[in-house]
Amino acid sequence: MADTRSIDLLIVEDDDGFREMAVEWMRRKGHRVEEAANGQEALKHYDRKHFQVAIFDMNMPGISGLELLQRLKSDGVDTEVIFLTGQATVENAVEAMKMGARDYLTKPFPLSELEHRCRMAQEHWLLQRENQQLKAVIRRARPDVAMIGESRPMQDVLRLVERVGPTDKAVLIQGESGTGKELVARAIHQASERVDNPLVTINCAALPEQLVESELFGHEKGSFTGATGTKNGLFEVADGGTLLIDEIGELPPGLQPKLLRVLEDGSLRRVGSHQERRVDVRILAATNRDLSEEVNEGRFREDLYYRINVMSLVLPPLRDRDGDVDLLIDHYLGADWEIEPDARAALVSYHWPGNVRQLINALERATILADDRHITLDDLPHEVVDAAPHDGFSIDTSGVKRLDLIERAHIIDVLHQEKGNKAQAARTLGIHRRKLYRLLERFEIDESLYR
Ligand SMILES: Nc1ncnc2c1ncn2[C@@H]1O[C@H](COP(=O)(O)OP(=O)(O)OP(=O)(O)O)[C@@H](O)[C@H]1O
Ligand SMILES: [Mg+2]
Repeated sequence: MADTRSIDLLIVEDDDGFREMAVEWMRRKGHRVEEAANGQEALKHYDRKHFQVAIFDMNMPGISGLELLQRLKSDGVDTEVIFLTGQATVENAVEAMKMGARDYLTKPFPLSELEHRCRMAQEHWLLQRENQQLKAVIRRARPDVAMIGESRPMQDVLRLVERVGPTDKAVLIQGESGTGKELVARAIHQASERVDNPLVTINCAALPEQLVESELFGHEKGSFTGATGTKNGLFEVADGGTLLIDEIGELPPGLQPKLLRVLEDGSLRRVGSHQERRVDVRILAATNRDLSEEVNEGRFREDLYYRINVMSLVLPPLRDRDGDVDLLIDHYLGADWEIEPDARAALVSYHWPGNVRQLINALERATILADDRHITLDDLPHEVVDAAPHDGFSIDTSGVKRLDLIERAHIIDVLHQEKGNKAQAARTLGIHRRKLYRLLERFEIDESLYR
């Protein structure tokens, strides 16, 4: 295949007789050859042109072959370099190989051998290039993780993602359902050096214990009923990449020590096997439970908790992200949609127990119901509409009304947090119960919605 491809070649050699002979030979073989009598000239060629393969004589006056190689490497030039040495300088050649030269030839040698080595070097150059192109294609095909959020708590999260991403440390991602834990895991993986290797996810809540084990660690044929073949575990699939263990709070107690071992030294055994395997996997874990509480209750091993919680990242609930609902609406609706101000106000003031996922669902539903790409209050789910501030409150957001809105939203937050318990909510707000009743009436809040 490559035999028919002509090589872009540079020959750098101070011995005129030998250089001319080599150039002549390679040109007759159909290759595109440039020549230089010393390192200085060679560098000038590189200013104008790219070479797949270069032949450097080891001993030249002025810039030596080794120096030339060093300069090209530091400029990021990817030529494959073959050194020519005399018997006395073989050690230098070995040195050159360590510095990244492809090959070396000890004089004297037949010119056919020189061509053969050049072809091998070209082959390597082409493979390398193909590899890079494939990686670039994969990178382009992989959509960037778009994490929307300009509120303070989200800015903190995004900064943390950038910081922990490249560290290769285990990260525990916590947050209510639908806050974007999986999205954050993807962003961390993308910010890491493992980005060209897979990110694999297992959801512990979705599988029975035995399956979780064989999914994670793999199994040997016949190790349990139904294990008809040998299977790689997800740890092996994720080797070199990242494994997201979702709902880690649901990881069965029997598997916790096994996970701890992988975290400690990267070793694991397939179900039904005694053979140790080693993997290089970064662990991310996600949970919507309070894992420290699970530890206190004795359901989650403390040592494992500390191993996973090297870095911890807590996603704020959507209702605590000031201004982000607006941004998410614009992002998910796109430019072709319009939304009535009172519909938008209803979305903004809702407490979103299901967080971003619930908001996306509400928007999707609205786009199905709406006429003419125009979303009104009628297109929103009733729980959103019912909780919305009534006339007067929603549209006029100036002056005193704006303060009222903030107060109202805060009361709703607290009611939500206290699950509609008015006495408790009043305590949390630090006001008398009777005052809370007055405010509920004034702001037309129906606390039963939050039970
Ligand atoms: N900041 C954000 N910007 C844009 N989209 C987001 C953001 N956060 C979450 N989403 C989207 O919301 C949906 C839910 O996010 P994700 O699945 O990551 O949540 P989760 O915390 O893992 O939820 P669960 O606890 O239910 O597993 C996804 O479609 C995700 O793309
Ligand atoms: Mg999730």
